[in-house]
Amino acid sequence: MASGELLRKLVKSGADGNYESFRQVSEEVIREEREKRHYLLANDLEKILYGRNSIASKPLLSLVKQIPSDKERGLPLLTIKEPVRCIEDIVLSDQNSSLIDEILQEHHRLELLNSHGLFPVDRLLFCGPPGCGKTLAAEVLASELGLPLAIVRIDSVVSSYLGETASNLRQVLDFAASVPMVVLFDEFDALAKERADSADHGELKRVVNAFLQLLDGYEGKSILVAATNHENILDAAVWRRFDEVLVFEPPNLEQLRRLLACKLRGVRRDFEVDNNEVANLFKGMSHSDVERVLRRATKEMVLAGVEFLNERQLKSAIRREDARRARMKRGE
Ligand SMILES: Nc1ncnc2c1ncn2[C@@H]1O[C@H](COP(=O)(O)OP(=O)(O)OP(=O)(O)O)[C@@H](O)[C@H]1O
Ligand SMILES: [Mg+2]
Repeated sequence: MASGELLRKLVKSGADGNYESFRQVSEEVIREEREKRHYLLANDLEKILYGRNSIASKPLLSLVKQIPSDKERGLPLLTIKEPVRCIEDIVLSDQNSSLIDEILQEHHRLELLNSHGLFPVDRLLFCGPPGCGKTLAAEVLASELGLPLAIVRIDSVVSSYLGETASNLRQVLDFAASVPMVVLFDEFDALAKERADSADHGELKRVVNAFLQLLDGYEGKSILVAATNHENILDAAVWRRFDEVLVFEPPNLEQLRRLLACKLRGVRRDFEVDNNEVANLFKGMSHSDVERVLRRATKEMVLAGVEFLNERQLKSAIRREDARRARMKRGE
C-alpha cells in the first residue's frame, strides 16, 4: 500500500483539481508499488491512469482496409486482430515478466521518454519451443497497450520472385510505421531460413539483408515482434537487430502451479492447484500441452455429469496426451 504521505498528496491534488500534480503523485504511487514487486496492482493503476488506449489506435475496420497486399498474387500481407487476452492470462518466467513489464512501462510513458530524446524499445525477438507463449505474449503486449495485433503472413510475403519479396517486406514495414500496432512476424525463421535452403544463395541472402536493413531503418509507431522456434538458424547479424530477446521455455514447477491456477479459473475441482504433486503430473509439457490436457479433462468432467474436476480425470487426460505425442513421434 502507498505510504501515508503519498496518499495525503494524492487526495489533496485530487481535491484541488490539480491534474498535473495528481498525475505526478499517481506515477510516484505506481513506482512505489512496482518497487515492492506488486506488479499486478502497478499495472492496473497504470491502466486506470493512462487508459487502455493510451496510444491512439485507429478503428480496426479502417485499418483492415489499408492492409497492403502482394502485387503479383493480390494476397493480403497481414491479418489484423483485436487482442483479447491480457497480462493475467499469461504465465511468464520472472525474467520475461520483468522484461514485458519494462517494455509496457516504456510505451506507457512514451511522451516522457520522447521529451528526453529517448525512444522505447520497439524491436523484439521471441524465441523458444512451440506452445510456450510467443504468440500469446505478442497478443498480451497489444492488449495491454490498447493496440491492434497485426500478424504478418510470411507465406504471402515470400514470393517466388525475390524482388517481390523485398517489396512486400517494405510494404509491411511502411504500414507498421504509419499506424501504432504490435506487428508479429510469426515463424520469422521461414524468412531467414530461405538463405540456407535456397539454391540461389546470393539472391536470398540479399532478401534477408534487405529485411535487416529495413529493421535498422525502422522508426515507426509500432512494436515489431519476430517469433521463432528455430533460433539456432539465426545468425549474429539477425540477433543484433533486436532491442530485446525473450526466451520462452516450458514451465517449471512453480510456473506449472500458476498455469493450473490460471487455466482452471472458474472450474470447480477437488484438488488444490498449488499442490506440487498435481503440478508434477504435467512436468515436461509445454503450456499449450497443459492447456489441451486440462480442456480434455474438463470436458470429461462435464460429460460425466460430475460437479468437481478430480485427479483421476487429469491422469486419464494426461495418458491420452502421452499416447497422442507418441503417435506424433512415430509420424502416424
Ligand atoms: N506462457 C503461457 N501462459 C499461458 N498460456 C499459454 C502460455 N503459452 C502458451 N499458452 C497457451 O497455449 C496456446 C498456444 O501458445 P502460443 O501460440 O503462444 O505458443 P507459441 O510459443 O507461439 O508456439 P509456436 O512456436 O508453435 O508458434 C496459447 O494460445 C495459450 O492459450
Ligand atoms: Mg506462435
